[in-house]
Amino acid sequence: MDLGIAGKRALITGGSHGIGLATAQALAAEGCHIAICSRTADRLAAAAETLSCHGTEVMTMRCDVLAEHDIEQTLAHITARWGGVDILVNNVGGGGRWGQPSVEETEERVWVEVFTKNALAAIRFTVALLPEMRRRQWGRVVTITSRLGREGGGRPWFNVAKAAQTSLMKTLGMMPDLARDGITFNSVAPGSIMIPDTGWAAERDRNPDGFQARLDAEFPLARLGTPEEVAAVVAFVCSARASLLNGAAVAVDGGESRAF
Ligand SMILES: NC(=O)c1ccc[n+]([C@@H]2O[C@H](COP(=O)([O-])OP(=O)(O)OC[C@H]3O[C@@H](n4cnc5c(N)ncnc54)[C@H](OP(=O)(O)O)[C@@H]3O)[C@@H](O)[C@H]2O)c1
Repeated sequence: MDLGIAGKRALITGGSHGIGLATAQALAAEGCHIAICSRTADRLAAAAETLSCHGTEVMTMRCDVLAEHDIEQTLAHITARWGGVDILVNNVGGGGRWGQPSVEETEERVWVEVFTKNALAAIRFTVALLPEMRRRQWGRVVTITSRLGREGGGRPWFNVAKAAQTSLMKTLGMMPDLARDGITFNSVAPGSIMIPDTGWAAERDRNPDGFQARLDAEFPLARLGTPEEVAAVVAFVCSARASLLNGAAVAVDGGESRAF
């Protein structure tokens, strides 16, 4: 299926690893020009190398989204080079394992940092990149949330931040002036995704048998998802074909979540 987005300019925040990198690859394979931003130069360089095989432009920028100034610099760089983007994937996020099991023993700083990394970063990138989408009368904003942005559970600072992202996409999607300018806002809510060098991989490596027993007991597919499985859905949501999909929270979780 031709997704109809060849030549579009796409920014994927946190696009140097995991779901973000898989999304950048899926969009590059559709002919999109790609911009990614994250903190580590080595990871950005490796990602750029991987993405270059598609023959579209690849732009990398160092940015820590916890620093407002870094976001401003990233946006300035994109504006200077491209004038804006057609597709924004607010992928950067996390903090589901930050803090303590006990709410009372978790400092307020954790709530603030998790909110900043997930919700405020998405708000900052989205608001800044809307004017160019409106000028072009076309845009796609997709935010990577979590099943925990659609139902209760997990650490509360993470759930609150992910629920805020889900709300942001739904609420912007309902605004007539934005919708009538051809912009859609959706969230993609992954379940548990196995990604090298992250928490799930560490858990599996500590106790492979116990980990598989948990998968068998708790997960309908008896396995975690892959970043590519999430990216395939994100690419469709970003596509010209998904023009009626707006304000949705799309679960990509193999049936793991309890929410309808
Ligand atoms: N993996 C899962 O099971 C799962 C489940 C549900 C939802 N999600 C969501 O999916 C999204 C991607 O997660 P992932 O698991 O793919 O993560 P990941 O593999 O750890 O990749 C995170 C990406 O973001 C960058 N990054 C991290 N902190 C950053 C910061 N402060 N500023 C800028 N860039 C930063 C990383 O590069 P640097 O470290 O070099 O900065 C990397 O490129 C997140 O929003 C996460 O909450 C993941």
